Amino acid sequence: MDTSTFFRDLPALFAGEPATSDPIDPRWSALCDEVAGYTAPNELAVLNHAAATMPADEAYLEVGTFKGRSICAAVQGNDDKTFAAMENFMEFGMAGELARRELMTNLETHAGEADVTLLEGDCFKLMVRPGALDRPVGVYFYDGEHTLLSHYLALAAVEPLLADEALVLIDDASWPVVQKAHRLFLKRHPGWQIVEQWDAAHADDPRWANGLHALTFRRRPGSAKRLSRQDEMLRRYQTTVQDRLNAAMWKAVGVVPGPITAVAKVLLGRSRQIGDDGVKSDGQKSTDQH
Ligand SMILES: C[S@@+](CC[C@H](N)C(=O)[O-])C[C@H]1O[C@@H](n2cnc3c(N)ncnc32)[C@H](O)[C@@H]1O
Repeated sequence: MDTSTFFRDLPALFAGEPATSDPIDPRWSALCDEVAGYTAPNELAVLNHAAATMPADEAYLEVGTFKGRSICAAVQGNDDKTFAAMENFMEFGMAGELARRELMTNLETHAGEADVTLLEGDCFKLMVRPGALDRPVGVYFYDGEHTLLSHYLALAAVEPLLADEALVLIDDASWPVVQKAHRLFLKRHPGWQIVEQWDAAHADDPRWANGLHALTFRRRPGSAKRLSRQDEMLRRYQTTVQDRLNAAMWKAVGVVPGPITAVAKVLLGRSRQIGDDGVKSDGQKSTDQH
C-alpha cells in the first residue's frame, strides 16, 4: 500500500479542512441514513479512499462490522478489491442471529458486487489462524472492543498479517484509552508511526464520531512476522479470560440494564472522555440513528 499517495490525495475528498468540513461526495452521509452504525460521514470518506488506493493484490481488513455501515462505505466503487470483515456479534447485547441477518441484508443492498468475506468470531483468535487471509493486509480498520488491552492487541495481533507497507485506521481514537494503548504499543514496536489524527471536536462529533487516527506500518527488513512472547501471552489472556468476562458482562446488560450500565459508565467514563465532554449515559455513540 502506497500510504504517501493515500495521504497526498485525501484533502481532495473534502470541501475544506478535513477536520472542519464535510466530504464532497454526498454518498457518505446518505449511507449513514440508510445503514445503522457508529461511524460518521468523514470517516466513511476516508475508509473508501483507503480501499481505492490499496492495490488489488492486498486485502482490506475490518474488525468490528456491526450492521455493516463502515464496510459498505469502504467497498463502494472497489469491486476489484478483496475485503474481510471480522465480527463476533457480541457487543450491545446483540442477538447474534438478528444482527447477522441485518448485516447480510445491508451487504446485499449496498455491497452486492463487492468481494467481502465475513469472518465470524473473536478477531484476536481469527487473526492468528493460519491462512485466515490469502494476501497481505494493505488497509486495516479497527472498530472492535475499546479497552486498553484490546486496542494494544488490535495493533499487535495484526502486525504479522500486514503488508510491508500498510495503512492502519483506528476508530474512537480521540478517547484517552485508545491513545494510551497506542503510546504503549509504539514504544515497544518499531516501524509504526501516527500520521494523521482526525479528532472529534466533542463526543459523537457528526463528522468524525469519536475520532479516527491514521497510522502507517513499514516492516523492518528481516523482522519476524509473529507476535513477541509477551504479546502472545497478552493475546492468550484476552482470548481465554477477558473474552469470557466480556461475554458475561454483555449478557448481564441484556438482563439487568440499569445497574450494570451504571457500573460500566463509572468504569469507562474517564477513559472515553473527549476534551471537556462527558460520555453519553449508556457509554455508547449516538451516531446509531436506528
Ligand atoms: C462500534 S461497533 C462497529 C461499528 C461499525 N464499524 C459501523 O461502522 O457501524 C463494534 C463492533 O465490534 C464487535 N467486536 C467487539 N469485539 C470484537 C472482537 N474481539 N472480535 C470481533 N468483533 C468484535 C462488536 O460485536 C460490535 O459489533
